[in-house]
Amino acid sequence: MKYTRRDIYRARDRGLARPEPESNLYMAMFGALAIPIGLFWMGWTAHPHISMWSPIISSVVFGFGVVCVFVSAYQYVAAAYEYHPGSALASLQMFRLTAAGVMAVIADLMCAKLGPHWTLTVLGGIATVFLPVPYLLYIWGLKVRTWSRLSTILAGVVAYFIARYTYRLFFHPLSKIPGPKLAAISYLPEFYHDVVRKGPIIRINPREVHIKDPAFYDEIYAGGMRIRQKDPAFTVALLTPGAMASTNDHERHRQRRGVLSNFFSKKSVTDLESVIQDKVDTLKERFNRAFNEETVLSLPSVFAALTADMITHYCHGESRGYLIAPDFKNNHMEALDSLFTLFHINRFIPPLAHLLSRLPLESMKKWGILSGTIGELVDTRLQTRQRAAEALQSTEKKTIGPMTLFDALTADSVPEEERTVNRLEDEASVLFGAGTETTARTLSIAAFYLAKNQTLLEKLRGELRLVMPSPGSKPTWSQLEKLPLLVSNTFPPK
Ligand code: HEM
Repeated sequence: MKYTRRDIYRARDRGLARPEPESNLYMAMFGALAIPIGLFWMGWTAHPHISMWSPIISSVVFGFGVVCVFVSAYQYVAAAYEYHPGSALASLQMFRLTAAGVMAVIADLMCAKLGPHWTLTVLGGIATVFLPVPYLLYIWGLKVRTWSRLSTILAGVVAYFIARYTYRLFFHPLSKIPGPKLAAISYLPEFYHDVVRKGPIIRINPREVHIKDPAFYDEIYAGGMRIRQKDPAFTVALLTPGAMASTNDHERHRQRRGVLSNFFSKKSVTDLESVIQDKVDTLKERFNRAFNEETVLSLPSVFAALTADMITHYCHGESRGYLIAPDFKNNHMEALDSLFTLFHINRFIPPLAHLLSRLPLESMKKWGILSGTIGELVDTRLQTRQRAAEALQSTEKKTIGPMTLFDALTADSVPEEERTVNRLEDEASVLFGAGTETTARTLSIAAFYLAKNQTLLEKLRGELRLVMPSPGSKPTWSQLEKLPLLVSNTFPPK
């Protein structure tokens, strides 16, 4: 009132009958903030466990804001259309009532889809976006009024796009499908990727690019003397700071890899043939028994038992015996799956990864915090810790004959600071994960497709008969690798 009176006196002093129409906006400028406040307040206190007085009072705040804006807007329009206030107010009224009718339907849909909290939050957000309007009109109203016709069209276009985007975001049949919101409301991202963007490299986040070009492989996994550091944001997520796979520094990684590289040579794997054959024989017996007893086996668990027994044998010279456990008692595939889900979370929250890799697993297990499949994985890790401690304490160092990974990691030639329980435990845990899941998954998928494709199965059997004339034959790796279908790297094999 004070400001309106001031404007009236000033207008009279300038010989004008009345002040500029913008003088009618004070009430809206004063009360507009109450609208989003009231909406957010109501949205987040409309809970059964919060006193009903909270939403009731918030509706008073909201109502106060609406009255301020409503009265102000009508006065402003009437004053702006000085000679035709009736037509202007009638148009405004029509627009308001149409919007109110549409909103009655939309609000119902929104409440059903989003619930009252998020509906009121969305409306509060829209009210916040429009909050500056009375202030902007107060400053630039005179200018806007000079292009009155254009501004009406502009307001219509803006209103149309707001309605269209609201529909696409919240009510479109595809609205529940995740993806960038910009792609949900417009064709711009698609246009950008199909037309504007050139080349196979795109930036996927503030510090990384995605490369869709196989030729780039040699650039990244460059051999020889070309130095490559691993990305700490990636390696921390593995939760095994002491392992070679988590070693960022090129030189340190090289040194750690040097200790293990022998174990991945063709000769080492050939030396392991009898161990592999032994375990495959055990598996064969289990398959036969299951066949005779008509028991259904879960292939991922069965193959994970085989690969886990092999890799534990390779690590510390003794299998964990998953293959001979009555029901294969092996939930590693499931547990490793959960761990990989966690990996994706860890990548984005490195402090969480640091925290998780330092958890007191032993105590947590005792307190019963870690159970289920993850509990089993923790058991495996604790057993590995025990083996690592035993390997470090052992005074008999093996230098000849088949060595285990722990023999290599604890050898005198390895720097002393590298011979710790944490280092051994982390290395063995990575090898356990990398050596169990990958190969078990490959075998399960191959078995599934072979069972589905009988022609292919018969072809493979025919090929295998060449090196396995009887069921008891034990082919060597060098014989097997000569079978074209078995080593084919295309699917379906040519
Ligand atoms: C189907 C089988 C397998 C696939 C597809 C596979 C794939 C991969 C890939 C792509 C990497 C590179 C990751 C990177 O640094 O960007 C890797 C690393 C590694 N894999 Fe495998 N892998 C398989 C089996 C195995 C097995 C059986 C073992 C162990 C017995 C193993 C142990 C490792 C280790 C230790 C690393 C880290 C190497 C380093 O940091 O230098 N992997 N694997």
